Amino acid sequence: MNICNRKGLEKVFKEYSIDYVVNFAAESHVDRSIEQPEIFLQTNIIGTQMLLDTAKHHWKIQPNDKYCTDYKDGVKFLQISTDEVYGSLIHEGKFAYSASKASADMIVRAYKETYKMPINITRCSNNYGPYQFPEKLIPLMISNCKNSKDLPVYGDGMQIRDWLHVEDHCSAIDTVLHKGENGQIYNIGGDNEKTNIEIVRLIIDKLGKSQDLIKYVKDRLGHDKRYAIDNTKITSGLGWRPSYTFEQGINETIDWYLNNTDWVEDIINGEHKNYYKNMYGEIS
Ligand code: DAU
Repeated sequence: MNICNRKGLEKVFKEYSIDYVVNFAAESHVDRSIEQPEIFLQTNIIGTQMLLDTAKHHWKIQPNDKYCTDYKDGVKFLQISTDEVYGSLIHEGKFAYSASKASADMIVRAYKETYKMPINITRCSNNYGPYQFPEKLIPLMISNCKNSKDLPVYGDGMQIRDWLHVEDHCSAIDTVLHKGENGQIYNIGGDNEKTNIEIVRLIIDKLGKSQDLIKYVKDRLGHDKRYAIDNTKITSGLGWRPSYTFEQGINETIDWYLNNTDWVEDIINGEHKNYYKNMYGEIS
């Protein structure tokens, strides 16, 4: 369901007894935000506000009293945000995507300040793992490499990302949901900083393909050079730690994609084909 659909949200809240909302819903792909900013603003900002407002209405002890700031016990709204709201550590890039996520964070905080709604925000680094849509770096490179297609590396490939396995991300979210202090923001990172080209070469090696598949293409507009996350608040404060080493996580992820080609092929043969042609028209 679309989180901009207020009636749909109302129905869900009426039908189920909901204590926690974890807002994973987002337009998340930076390249798409450069092409079509409007849908990012719509889903990430307006959608978040709709979800907050519906939750507020159902969680307040007296829903129709606008001055009531008492909530049912144990409820919480957890907003899944991103390290991109901090901008790049080296060159300051700004996309409609990160601007929309930063706006959503501010709206979530406004609901805390104005209506006293119980909230947390988590800001994670780059996720990887099974079931990631093959428009993101790691699944795209695995899928292309397997099919011996060109591997499109933006610019010089020296941009740095901090990689977090999706299961570690989920365990961190669960920790914040149950132990996070009301109103606090927690960074979640994997402590695995890698350049993009390192990742691409590693995938090529694991699949036993030729390095000649690498094609350096035009850089992404406003490309952020480096993201890195300081985990201290969640590790020292809440006792969370990532469980995957990058080596284990990336090997398992590559194996997962190689063993689930039907899932990937279904996606890359659908609407994704047009997106790919539009994005990567210059390569084979
Ligand atoms: O930091 C967290 C963010 O990580 C999330 O908030 C975003 O939703 C998520 O998409 C991700 O953003 P990135 O732009 O870092 O992820 P992406 O997988 O698109 O790209 C990772 C790096 O790889 C980035 O420097 C761009 C580069 N890249 C990406 C693609 C798809 C390439 O060189 N070639 C490619 O074809």
